[in-house]
Amino acid sequence: MVITVFSPKGGVGKTTLTLALARVLSEDKKVCAVEADFSPGDFVSLLDLDKEKNIVNACLGDYRACLQRPAGEKFDVIVGGFPHMQENLKYADVEKLLNDISGEYDYVLIDLQPQISEPAVAALLKADRVLFVLEDDISAVSRTVGIIEYLKLHGFLDVSKACAVVNKVKGKKKYITAVDLGIPVVYSIPYLRRLSEYKDKKMIRHAKNLKDAFFEVKKEKSLLRRLLNGFKRVKQKDK
Ligand SMILES: Nc1ncnc2c1ncn2[C@@H]1O[C@H](COP(=O)(O)OP(=O)(O)O)[C@@H](O)[C@H]1O
Ligand SMILES: [Mg+2]
Repeated sequence: MVITVFSPKGGVGKTTLTLALARVLSEDKKVCAVEADFSPGDFVSLLDLDKEKNIVNACLGDYRACLQRPAGEKFDVIVGGFPHMQENLKYADVEKLLNDISGEYDYVLIDLQPQISEPAVAALLKADRVLFVLEDDISAVSRTVGIIEYLKLHGFLDVSKACAVVNKVKGKKKYITAVDLGIPVVYSIPYLRRLSEYKDKKMIRHAKNLKDAFFEVKKEKSLLRRLLNGFKRVKQKDK
């Protein structure tokens, strides 16, 4: 399963949540976190990894040679790149990487940059699920509403696969409750003072709750769909 973590805004917690989810999911599943971020990416410095084993080399060469395992973790990663490198990647390159890699892992988590580009569109369209991350401020909420409309209009997002998490919540939520994103908000994470890294105990606890809420939504939806389909069948028989 490919899960793309996305936001039209930087600094909302995409990388933190991608890595925290990778840690949680890798407790009992095979997980790879791919940094599709050229702004530049953060994995190299955060996880102390080799910048040459990046997404461009993984797409254009043998991706297996670009897998790295962060110290103390049970998941693999492919690190992102720098701004100029993005032009080297086409939609089909990223599509192929994700096809190959998703055959090897139970979960492929993509930490996707805010800018829409060919690699980004591939990461959105090849995803089984898209997790939007936003903060409860006017700019993050309005940008998220805007980008969802834009992505829908261009056929870059299947909204039935999308849901959202609100991060860094301080007190009562104000803006997110006033708008309809058109996708379910599955979980909220409070602002964690003195958060030093994704491995922080409190962050991992929230990532576990987020994981449960995230998979629950899909289950509810498919149950609802099953009920609706059953209802349709009964109606057709009545005709
Ligand atoms: N719930 C939270 N509470 C407090 N700080 C957070 C929280 N989530 C993330 N951060 C901090 O916010 C900053 C940006 O997070 P990051 O994951 O790099 O965002 P993005 O990948 O969206 O740019 C980091 O310093 C991170 O530690
Ligand atoms: Mg990031």
